[in-house]
Amino acid sequence: MNSFELNKIAGAVLGAALAVVVVNAVADIAISPSYPEKVAYVIDTGKEDSSAASTAVAADDGPSLGALLASADVGKGEKVFKKCSSCHTVEEGGKNKIGPNLYAVLGKQMATHAGFSYSSALTDMGAEWTYENLDAFLKKPKDFAKGTKMSFAGLKKPTDRANLIAYLRTLGTADTPLPAAN
Ligand code: HEC
Repeated sequence: MNSFELNKIAGAVLGAALAVVVVNAVADIAISPSYPEKVAYVIDTGKEDSSAASTAVAADDGPSLGALLASADVGKGEKVFKKCSSCHTVEEGGKNKIGPNLYAVLGKQMATHAGFSYSSALTDMGAEWTYENLDAFLKKPKDFAKGTKMSFAGLKKPTDRANLIAYLRTLGTADTPLPAAN
């Protein structure tokens, strides 16, 4: 017997089994029709969605940026900066890479570092890099400046951002007053 014949036999057996299943199913329906006991429509009130949103907001409530900065760890911030260093230099007069040099960026007018070609997403902001703006930008760059060409997902942890901002502050802007720690 060759494998082609074996396949034919297997096919015939499977076909027969399938026929039995189909006949059984048809017989079941014909003999004992059944109806669903419950109404199948569920009316969506949208309530669950809004409660989920409010939980998300509550989960975001942690210590304020000022409080986090007041107890920030500059050394840890320098480590976090490793995620940025493929695109940014920080030393005074450092070159622009994929992103602009970040020396003394705290308090600086956005998108004004010499010799760097910014996206209009950033030039259109027309604001300064305050602590709060840096924090919001670094959390999710694409949310803060829609269309920014900084391809970085963001830093989810508020402490990572605060440590990093505290590190950036040491680079030429150490006298910038910290926000209130309330
Ligand atoms: C993949 C490369 C890349 C990475 C990683 C990256 N950046 Fe950027 N960054 C850019 C680019 C490009 C721009 C210019 C954005 C634009 O013009 O829209 C930018 C802009 C900025 C600016 C605005 C500077 C100014 O002069 O207005 C800041 C601040 C900044 N980045 C901080 C950071 C920090 C802090 C990190 C690490 C957490 C980081 N970036 C990670 C590429 C990057």
